[in-house]
Amino acid sequence: MRRIILIAVMIVLGGCTIDLSRLLTVNMNTTSMTVLQGDATRGADIFTHGVNDAPPCIGCHSLGQSAFSLGPKMTGISQRAAERVPGMNTDAYLRQSILEPSAYVVSGFRDIMYPNFKEKLTEQDIVDLIAYLETL
Ligand code: HEC
Repeated sequence: MRRIILIAVMIVLGGCTIDLSRLLTVNMNTTSMTVLQGDATRGADIFTHGVNDAPPCIGCHSLGQSAFSLGPKMTGISQRAAERVPGMNTDAYLRQSILEPSAYVVSGFRDIMYPNFKEKLTEQDIVDLIAYLETL
């Protein structure tokens, strides 16, 4: 009799384990599928003022007619970005330009872009910056 109860308990517990693991899998899938929405207004603020001790982009990338700019002017970047590297769309190119500036160096410019945005920016900061650059 005891043995039967034990087996019954094991079956019930086994059932629970399976259910729990299914539940966990579903939750994990939901988390990894979360897509962050870029906020261009916040991106503009990071571009102009910097964030988390990282230098502001505007220090090296002027907008509009200003004559001097250490890096390429950002006006029209949304158009140029898609054509810079074959096989890379606007989003991928902008992300790479921010996180790995040395991976592709724009002709006529030196490889002097601040290299540590990868450590300083959160994923939300990055999608906000990209959303802003896509309005330029
Ligand atoms: C210390 C100066 C400096 C800072 C700060 C800087 N950049 Fe740059 N950036 C450069 C230079 C120089 C280049 C051109 C060389 C290269 O391609 O790496 C460049 C290239 C780029 C390009 C590619 C432009 C093109 O025409 O293809 C993008 C996009 C870009 N930067 C975005 C940013 C953003 C966004 C920030 C702020 C989060 C930023 N940069 C901060 C100097 C800087």
